[in-house]
Amino acid sequence: MNRAQQPSSLEQVRLWVQQARRIAVLTGAGVSAESGVPTFRDAQTGLWANFRPEELATEEAFRRDPRRVWDWYAERRAAMAAVRPNAGHVALAEFQQRHPGRLTLITQNVDGLHQKAGSMGVLELHGDLMVDRWLNPCLNRDLHGGEVAACNTAAAVPGRPPYCAECRNLLRPAVVWFGEMLPPGILAAAEHAASVCDLMLVVGTSGMVYPAAGLAVQARQAGAQVVVINPEPTDLDEVAHLRLTGPSAQWLPLLLAD
Ligand code: OAD
Repeated sequence: MNRAQQPSSLEQVRLWVQQARRIAVLTGAGVSAESGVPTFRDAQTGLWANFRPEELATEEAFRRDPRRVWDWYAERRAAMAAVRPNAGHVALAEFQQRHPGRLTLITQNVDGLHQKAGSMGVLELHGDLMVDRWLNPCLNRDLHGGEVAACNTAAAVPGRPPYCAECRNLLRPAVVWFGEMLPPGILAAAEHAASVCDLMLVVGTSGMVYPAAGLAVQARQAGAQVVVINPEPTDLDEVAHLRLTGPSAQWLPLLLAD
């Protein structure tokens, strides 16, 4: 941290936190970096360092080679089971508990660490790595004219990927792949939070992926103070009133302590 400059920025942002009636926080992979979860775009260790995203994180890739894509996600799931929330996740969750209804947490992460830390009502823009859904709309539901409930994903026959014994549908992870829409209700709730907040913290995201990154622009246009927290420059720095340079597990506890 730059000691000559940061204390005043810290005090300024702490003041904004105290004064804000509504705070929105947009997090990305960097908030989980100190828990040991690789980010996406880090040149050496990032998840996309060894793959092109369209090789694995698209519906087309899954349909082409379901086992390969399923196995890649299975590895990520196994790695996720071992990771724990860090001080940044905990600071956000504790603030929400001390100030019910004041802080809306919007995340691009699929790792579930905000929830593990105790955060409530997390808006997961890109889905949840640990949840499955059917690849195709359930055929049984169609066959019965929509009257019958879709096959239960929990009843899938184990496999790589698991499948439905009745209609042969395949399970896939309930994450948003490239080229897919974000869950509309979640995006709408996030846009609402961005448009009514007094302060938005943009934490641990490169700001390169839309529509998530657009939430910071929306908050700024609606009159909120915008603060970027990141050790590296980001695409949203110009949108921000202030930047706090450094890891989020250090900054968030300082900013959110009462
Ligand atoms: P990126 O990998 O693009 O960016 C991670 C950011 O975290 C970078 O700006 C790093 O500088 C920052 N960072 C690293 N360590 C940090 C730390 N300790 N504290 C704070 N920040 C740190 O990840 P995202 O911006 O989350 O989408 O990527 C956005 C989306 O792109 C992801 O949700 C994923 C990916 O494609 C989907 O899968 C749909």
